[in-house]
Amino acid sequence: MSQSAAQDSSAVYYDPCLWEIALNPYPVYCRLREEAPLYYNEKYDFYAVSRYADMQRYFADHETFISGKGGILELIKENVKMPEGTFIFEDPPQHTVHRRIVQRIFSPKRLSVLDEKIRDMSARIFDELKDRDDFDFIADVGGQIPMRVIGMLLGIPEQDFQEVRRITDSKLVTEEGKPVDYSDGLNLELSFERYVDWRMENPSDDVITELLGVEFTDENGVERKLSQEELVTFVNLLAGAGNETTNRLIGWMAKSFAENPDQLRDVVANPDLIPQAIEEALRLEPPPPHVGRYVAKDVEIQVQTMPAGSAILLLVGSANHDDEVFENPEQFNIHRPKPRHMSFGDGIHTCIGNVLARMEARIVFEELLQRIQDWNVDLEHARLSSTSTSTSTSTSTVRGWESLPTYRNRERPAEYSRAGCGQSPGGSQGGGGSR
Ligand code: HEM
Repeated sequence: MSQSAAQDSSAVYYDPCLWEIALNPYPVYCRLREEAPLYYNEKYDFYAVSRYADMQRYFADHETFISGKGGILELIKENVKMPEGTFIFEDPPQHTVHRRIVQRIFSPKRLSVLDEKIRDMSARIFDELKDRDDFDFIADVGGQIPMRVIGMLLGIPEQDFQEVRRITDSKLVTEEGKPVDYSDGLNLELSFERYVDWRMENPSDDVITELLGVEFTDENGVERKLSQEELVTFVNLLAGAGNETTNRLIGWMAKSFAENPDQLRDVVANPDLIPQAIEEALRLEPPPPHVGRYVAKDVEIQVQTMPAGSAILLLVGSANHDDEVFENPEQFNIHRPKPRHMSFGDGIHTCIGNVLARMEARIVFEELLQRIQDWNVDLEHARLSSTSTSTSTSTSTVRGWESLPTYRNRERPAEYSRAGCGQSPGGSQGGGGSR
């Protein structure tokens, strides 16, 4: 679709930097699917695709919709050079080589060791929370577990993880109405550099030592070991990609259950439903609402052309609410048969940590429900990332609760509401809540 055709097709306006939309993007997504399935935003010069079927095709066509220029709109526009090893922003053959190396970290054996540790950690946290009337699902649960899990996965001290989380989160932050400024490059400080150097001198039986020893054939056919930059980037990438996303998933699950106490009772009675609840929360509120791609060659759509060199957002959150695929998409329904959502992406870049993220959420809720079987959330005082006052922060790449005050043994507030097709985002608490 040409720029003018997309503009003419409708007055619908989509802008990922607008807090009003980030607060509850679903009504706008609905209009995009109906009125401008391939949308063009003139202000920031990018396309957005919103229908499930289109997105599946675009994810699969990794030769046209490439990741090598970045997966975040601002990065793509700035043409930022990524550090060696940032395989989320690489294309084959380099991506294939790097991904294969990192994949070995997630071995069944290592995951089963982690299973025990996550269970112990969760049990300790909920033993402490079970006697409290008030806590915060993010500060006390979501903000505690995923970060430590990646540290345990890699065998890296916790304080280093705290620091990298601060750095990576700050790189995802945007001010209202403004894209993130990446004009000085990605510039992730190599927080783990010293640790990796030290491990080179002091090998152990941890993952870093294992990766230091890996020999592989790179995309140029050269047999070699990982460079220090590649290894440090892998660690930064895993720490960045696996923390906030899983934290937000836990927050969305907590909120969805608070809004649907009947379904909470169902999982309490039958914890085998927890994996289904995880899939449904991922579908309903995907932590990354969209991912970006660079259009490497002209794409003919009907009689129009999306030119090579364009940036495009694949609106995962919209695909997950497409009523061509999901019945009553605005409803949280843990009994929905296998929701094939796109929250982990699709195709060659499908989330490499999806098994771990699902496992973490499952264990957290298994341990939680053994100790706490009902709760309410205080949306008046909750804070959503991607929505913010001037004193708070906002991210355009991961959407979810930064703070989710939770209380028990007090009356529930008035009904929550959810806006979807045909409703305006203003005033709705559908995907969000207070700022
Ligand atoms: C609920 C939790 C999570 C969600 C919703 C999520 C979502 C995603 C999505 C949508 C992508 C695809 C990006 C694209 O196509 O450009 C992705 C890729 C990735 N994720 Fe996750 N993620 C989660 C947890 C994790 C965890 C726990 C880790 C690691 C410990 C992780 C590491 C990665 C990495 C390294 C990639 C890049 C894969 C590649 O390019 O081949 N993620 N994730």
